[in-house]
Amino acid sequence: MTRGESQDSQHDPSSASISSLVNRHVILTITGGIAAYKSCFLARGLVQAGCELQIVMTESAARFVTPLTFATLSGNPVLTDMFPNPPPEKPIHLSTANRGELLVIAPATANFIGKMANGIADDLASTIALTFRKQVLVAPAMNPQMWIAPAVQDNINRLRDRDVEIIGPVSGEMGGVGETPGLGRMAEPDAVFSRIEELLSGQEWKDRRVLVTSGPTREAIDPVRFISNRSSGRMGDTVARRARLRGADVTLIRGRGATGSPPDGVNVVEVETTCEMSEAVKSRFENCDLLIMAAAVADWTMAEPAKSKLKKRNGEPVFNLVKTEDILTWACDHRNGQVVVGFALETENHIEQARLKLEQKGADIIALNDPTRKDSAFGGDSIKLTILSGGDRIIELPALPKNEAADRLLDSIQPLFPTR
Ligand SMILES: Cc1cc2nc3c(=O)[nH]c(=O)nc-3n(C[C@H](O)[C@H](O)[C@H](O)COP(=O)(O)O)c2cc1C
Repeated sequence: MTRGESQDSQHDPSSASISSLVNRHVILTITGGIAAYKSCFLARGLVQAGCELQIVMTESAARFVTPLTFATLSGNPVLTDMFPNPPPEKPIHLSTANRGELLVIAPATANFIGKMANGIADDLASTIALTFRKQVLVAPAMNPQMWIAPAVQDNINRLRDRDVEIIGPVSGEMGGVGETPGLGRMAEPDAVFSRIEELLSGQEWKDRRVLVTSGPTREAIDPVRFISNRSSGRMGDTVARRARLRGADVTLIRGRGATGSPPDGVNVVEVETTCEMSEAVKSRFENCDLLIMAAAVADWTMAEPAKSKLKKRNGEPVFNLVKTEDILTWACDHRNGQVVVGFALETENHIEQARLKLEQKGADIIALNDPTRKDSAFGGDSIKLTILSGGDRIIELPALPKNEAADRLLDSIQPLFPTR
């Protein structure tokens, strides 16, 4: 066995595993709506992810949340004034707009959207928006009656026509007590954050179609009980999200027992059983470039699940289990240029078992996890992966946060794509 690339390597700061937001210059403009408080969470998330954040506020926005709050959250003075005293060397709207890589307006009021659509620049925030020449992301937030106003809709369409991206609004409760719920709520800070991450990340997997499975499957014993496993789905979910951040079109086939919400930006197909997961993979496999099977599928299912709930008074049940279909083997047998990656979870003879799985099934890569290690346990934040591929190649990664491990796995898949 040859031990190829980096073993127990230190985290390489140049690798793709670094967050796409580190040292990226984002301008976050806050306008005068009640949803301004939500942007506190957005600002905090961006700064924690390593962003260089410049906050700009309109005069109305400062009536809702103070500039002091945002200055503290961002670690930078907040810009509000078109004509600061003393005047800076360069016009403030030019220096700010030229430094930013992405302009985010969240929340965006009906008024501000109208000003953007019509080229009005009568305060610092709108002058920066008019000057800014790169990608703009707008998160409208307003009462549903305002949102459906023809003037607002016309303005939104004009912005869309100029390649301004609009995120939301979403339906739900309004900020004010007693307001009728409806469509107008600002997209949640997490969703805006995810989109910012996507817009600032590399697009090296653009046009690649990636199919990922995650989570546990459930095999019914009777209508209320099932056989399942401890998988949280977090590794598969993370792999899906990181592939999305490379620009891929990602479909995630997710076992219903997975915890938390599925990642943003991916198409999610929920399944319950191994049989359903198998059907979901089969129907999409032909149209994908890469399949990553990170789900913990059940190896056995009940020969005949009980139609009604098993009763204690009827004695101890005997379960007759039959093998489920091996989806990874099916995929390897039916591939037509797709890259196929499986996960192996072994509690003993790890490497030998994973190597056997790689060879017997004919996968391109097997990512091996040992859940008995403290730093690689089910549902934890970190994972210690060993990546096995053909020609006895093996990469032993150190225990890493799951997003970094996912990036390292995707890095090792990259050379396997056929050249275009
Ligand atoms: C309590 C309150 C809440 C408001 N919420 C919103 C809102 O969510 N969306 C909106 O478009 N306007 C809202 N407005 C109206 C704006 O504050 C107003 O149009 C203002 O001129 C916007 O200024 P700006 O776009 O320069 O920030 C609200 C006003 C008040 C008094």
